[in-house]
Amino acid sequence: MERFAVFASGRGSNLKAIIEAVREEKIEAELSLVVSDNVDAEALKIAERAGIESLSFNPKDYNKKEEYEYFIMKSLRKREVEFIVLAGFMRILSPYFISEYRGKILNIHPALLPSFPGEHGVRDALKAGVDKTGVTVHFVDEGVDSGPIIVQDVEPIKDGDTEASLLKRLHSIEHRLYPEVINLFVQGKILIENGDVKIIAKGEKHEN
Ligand code: GRF
Repeated sequence: MERFAVFASGRGSNLKAIIEAVREEKIEAELSLVVSDNVDAEALKIAERAGIESLSFNPKDYNKKEEYEYFIMKSLRKREVEFIVLAGFMRILSPYFISEYRGKILNIHPALLPSFPGEHGVRDALKAGVDKTGVTVHFVDEGVDSGPIIVQDVEPIKDGDTEASLLKRLHSIEHRLYPEVINLFVQGKILIENGDVKIIAKGEKHEN
């Protein structure tokens, strides 16, 4: 079975959904490690309760990003981690790190990218007055929320929506969508061809 790691900085609700999906074999891969840049992250407690190994660090203890990334990389290699799932990980990975796992890092973002990238995807969509937003799952590249898009799910913005009410609906989309996409990836059904993502539908065969 393929092995993967989840990187999370905070609440860890997506991590929790992923752990459940692994348990229920809706993700046919082994979650080997949870990595956090926040030693107090709720995500670490979720990992501990689930009996999953974790690694946490404080970036302030390192002079350079490459130093802590090297430390993470060693741990990933030791466990033969084949792909990485970012779930609310609030750090930009360096080109060095990305190149080691090119096409093997997924991220989820609470907006319809390329609209509203960055830390405040939900707030920014509300401020902009758009009538719909959503969730995007994409591959990670060197930019901020800029890699090839895998899938998007649209959510209308209702009159009177607040950041909290909208976030709640987006989260429930995320918790359903992310495990599904992770499993498609595990099954080799998500391919990048000339920078574009191709998802192989049920029953379809991919010809090389
Ligand atoms: C999610 O909304 C995700 O889209 C974004 O960070 C948030 C993480 O939430 N990248 P949680 O820690 O999984 O609850």
